[in-house]
Amino acid sequence: MAKPEIFELSNGTINLKVSNFGAIITSLLVPDAKGNLADVVLGFDSVDAYINGNTPYFGCIVGRVANRIKDGKFTLDGVNYSLPINNGPNSLHGGIKGFDKVVWEVAEHKTTQNPSITFKYQSKDGEEGYPGDVTVTATYSLPSSNSLKLEMEAEPKNKATPISLAQHTYWNLAGHNSGNILNHLVQIWGSQITPVDNTSIPTGELMAVKGTPFDFTTEQTVGSRFAEVPGGYDHNYVLDLGEERLGLKRAAKVKDPLSSRVLNIWTNAPGVQFYTANYVDGVPGKGGAIYQKHSGLCLETQGFPNSINEPKFPSIVVKPGEKYRHTMVFEFSVE
Ligand SMILES: *[C@@H]1O[C@H](CO)[C@@H](O)[C@H](O)[C@H]1NC(C)=O
Ligand SMILES: *[C@@H]1O[C@H](CO)[C@@H](O)[C@H](O)[C@H]1NC(C)=O
Repeated sequence: MAKPEIFELSNGTINLKVSNFGAIITSLLVPDAKGNLADVVLGFDSVDAYINGNTPYFGCIVGRVANRIKDGKFTLDGVNYSLPINNGPNSLHGGIKGFDKVVWEVAEHKTTQNPSITFKYQSKDGEEGYPGDVTVTATYSLPSSNSLKLEMEAEPKNKATPISLAQHTYWNLAGHNSGNILNHLVQIWGSQITPVDNTSIPTGELMAVKGTPFDFTTEQTVGSRFAEVPGGYDHNYVLDLGEERLGLKRAAKVKDPLSSRVLNIWTNAPGVQFYTANYVDGVPGKGGAIYQKHSGLCLETQGFPNSINEPKFPSIVVKPGEKYRHTMVFEFSVE
């Protein structure tokens, strides 16, 4: 079995460190307007800390199904499935030992021009309660001087199964150790959210964000309406407004006004979970940093939460012979 390590991709402008444990982004150095580099993702210094520590899903790929499944139950092709319950009454992020807590094989690592690394994982029938064998690959690459791309694919071998992967990086464009992100500006190309019940399961309705504290259709500071969102943001947006480019929709823009660093996220996924690190509370991170509440923000492009039990949502079921494809581009600039 492959051993957990950290690999590096660099193109002279951006420097990325990723581990084959959980396909985790552990570090990402990005320049500001003056060329000063900062590590803009929360995380730990060593792989061991991810393996042994209590990590709030820092930088990893979550699956087989990201986000929550109501009561950890679903029925597919006439069979009832029960998943591990690990978040209130629900199953979260693929279960107790999801894709974020396994060692992936390194299928390919290119260090030359347009560096890339491909991780591969074989998920077994019955693993964490899910049906059928599935082959999953995740390729991180630096296709241009200012962008990071992630292409995820998954192919079920023998049974239909729900598949919805997400990348769970916590961003802080001022630097991972710079305090909270309440002054970051965020824009999300979604006119609706999927409102949730008291256990964070969508009710099945879509709610227009206009006139609510969830409206990020124009650039807003994260903290501007925080008092009206008890606990902070942890909501799935329906990506219905972004222009398309090369098959991807524009999903979100984040700007740190101090460093002027800007991140634009493009994806082919139908939704994005906007999460403001509400449960991160005194986590000892890289270089002695202590991550307090709201010290980062996540924009996890994904299928809608609990889609497997919600016929009104876009289906996340993938059948043998079909292929799940989820691509995202993280584009950095200064403004
Ligand atoms: C699946 O669960 C439902 C209710 O939760 C039940 O009515 C049904 O009989 C179950 N089916 C099987 C095949 O066990
Ligand atoms: C959520 O609400 C339901 C009914 O509306 C209630 O039965 C349940 O105890 C509540 N759960 C939590 C975690 O508050």
